Amino acid sequence: MLNKAKIAVMVSGGGTNLQALIDAQSSGIIKSGEIVLVLSNKPDAYALTRAKNAGIDVAVVDKKECTDRADFEARIVEILDGHGIDIIVLAGFMCILSAEFTGHYHDRIINVHPSLIPSFCGEGYYGLRVHEAALKYGVKVSGATVHIVNEIPDGGRILMQRAVEVLDNDTPESLQRRIMEEAEWKILPLSCELMCKQITDEKEK
Ligand code: GAR
Repeated sequence: MLNKAKIAVMVSGGGTNLQALIDAQSSGIIKSGEIVLVLSNKPDAYALTRAKNAGIDVAVVDKKECTDRADFEARIVEILDGHGIDIIVLAGFMCILSAEFTGHYHDRIINVHPSLIPSFCGEGYYGLRVHEAALKYGVKVSGATVHIVNEIPDGGRILMQRAVEVLDNDTPESLQRRIMEEAEWKILPLSCELMCKQITDEKEK
């Protein structure tokens, strides 16, 4: 292979999914791409520490310092394009991106969502709220989905899903943890490799 796909991971919080990607790169599960940048909208996100520990470049675009969403996204685009990014992985990135942004990176953004889409997804469903809603509804199976990001929140083409059992005594926190361990940390790296392989194959044609 001539060149690896350049991966940017966008984060907002703890970054356990970022860690799964870093570990998958070390173990060779991700072999067609390389994480070259971690970008956060939160200056204090622990994910930034994980990136630095792994020797990966970091960038912060703080929404509070931007005039509006267009300004916020323009700053992000400038950084991503400056790094020649091929694929963007949203790994716990808690901002909804505009149609202009998703159109700029058509079929080049993937996201991990902690439910089986089309359940418990779309605007307002993020983080623990997803698991609270799943438990309130009483579903017996939940899971995670990795999908392409388009202009519809959580509405793009599904790449991978993995189901996880809901237990009678689950709390939102225990369900979140089990879905991360059994589903998110596995299907996000696998989906990332799938996309990177497609990109490098296209480039070599
Ligand atoms: C993960 O469960 C991820 O699926 C979810 O936020 C958590 C981030 O954890 N993302 C969403 O809800 C997006 N709609 P992490 O920072 O430890 O990876």
